[in-house]
Amino acid sequence: MSGRGRMNIEPTRLCVMDDIRDGPRRVVVEGEGLVVWMAADGQPRVFADRCPHRDARLSAGHVENGRLLCPFHLWAFDESGLYVGPDGVADPTCAVPGVPADVRDGAVWISRLPVRDPARCESP
Ligand code: FES
Repeated sequence: MSGRGRMNIEPTRLCVMDDIRDGPRRVVVEGEGLVVWMAADGQPRVFADRCPHRDARLSAGHVENGRLLCPFHLWAFDESGLYVGPDGVADPTCAVPGVPADVRDGAVWISRLPVRDPARCESP
């Protein structure tokens, strides 16, 4: 691990694509909770399973209009993890950390883990 950066890990299979077609799924890898969800492009996204607002599990939320919604206060996050306000504008100062995901043989794989202890966001 380099500083607060992402941590490289052995390629790890998280779930199959069918597991995320109906909503986000929680997966734990090396003690880190992750949320795997399907973006509007039909590709998976993998984020830390912690809302930057009040730490709720994003995996307990749902996907709406291509955005991942937190179950607590319904903050929305786009496919790159940025908070998107009610005006539809993404805020680059508030984001959920994520890592690249690959799809192989119908399954979602990662080879890094998101940043630990990301910055919290107050109401933008
Ligand atoms: S805890 Fe996620 S929006 Fe408040």
